[in-house]
Amino acid sequence: MNDNTQSIQWFPGHMAKTRRKIKEILPLIDAVAEVVDARIPLSSRNPELKELIGDKPHIILLNKCDMADKRVTDGWISHYKNQGITAIAIDCKSGKGLNHFKDTVKTALSEKLEQYANKGMVGKPLRVMVVGIPNVGKSSFINRIAGNRKAKVENRPGVTRGNQWFSIDKQLELLDTPGVLWPKFEDKTVGEHLAFTGAVKDRILDTELLSMRLLEILSENYRDLLENRYGKLDFDCDSYDLLCQIGKKRGMVIRGGETDTERAANMLLEEYRNSKIGYISLERAEHNA
Ligand code: G4P
Repeated sequence: MNDNTQSIQWFPGHMAKTRRKIKEILPLIDAVAEVVDARIPLSSRNPELKELIGDKPHIILLNKCDMADKRVTDGWISHYKNQGITAIAIDCKSGKGLNHFKDTVKTALSEKLEQYANKGMVGKPLRVMVVGIPNVGKSSFINRIAGNRKAKVENRPGVTRGNQWFSIDKQLELLDTPGVLWPKFEDKTVGEHLAFTGAVKDRILDTELLSMRLLEILSENYRDLLENRYGKLDFDCDSYDLLCQIGKKRGMVIRGGETDTERAANMLLEEYRNSKIGYISLERAEHNA
């Protein structure tokens, strides 16, 4: 778990500085590539980003697709396409899908490339700013795609002023977000979804309640996966009883035959986060059309 997970809890709302820096840099870039968690594409976004970037071309990178439900991820890709936004599924752990990134950017910005060529600005690279809330895998993405190819320090605005530019090839440069973008903490569902995926530590949250909320979602959409993992379950009950059933199946019983629900809750959350229950998405495009 990286350090960002912890800082999420203590420094929410530090957006003003980031907002200013992004506004400053915006005229220098051609597009924004937003990294989101494919399992929770809504909750893993910054609520102000859309307004901040205005009509800059926008590409969404549905990262961690190795842990998401492929059908749901495909649904998100179509959903964004209908909104005129290009989205691709990537997995920065294995590198899957990353080979499409360069072509996706060049296709999305083909008009811009043409304009540069018409103006005789051959060799002017497209500049893309990579953004994402902590823990979505933004650093993993940049490391995978750019490695150590930091752009040369040149006498150009934005390149020399301490910003992190990376040269991908002659036609493409990436800029790491100047600052930190935060999710919409004040929304309870967003907080829960970030906690399910481990983006927010659950030390300060009630793990039993959290696991019961997770079970509500899983028993709506992924009963088969739950039963594959924990055996036959009776879903005709509330989520607390379901948690008890799961705990019992794993022998987590305390004196008097009761389930050790705290242990069961921790086990469930951990198994969800490690994809042991299966490839599961918690947010679907059709619910948010
Ligand atoms: P950030 O810059 O957006 O804050 O995220 P970062 O790249 O640090 O990634 C956060 C965590 O997510 C890391 O795990 C990283 O390995 C993992 N991760 C990033 N992309 C993917 C992906 O496509 N699939 C999967 N399964 N995991 C991904 P960690 O537990 O914090 O560290 P570690 O496991 O790398 O040691």
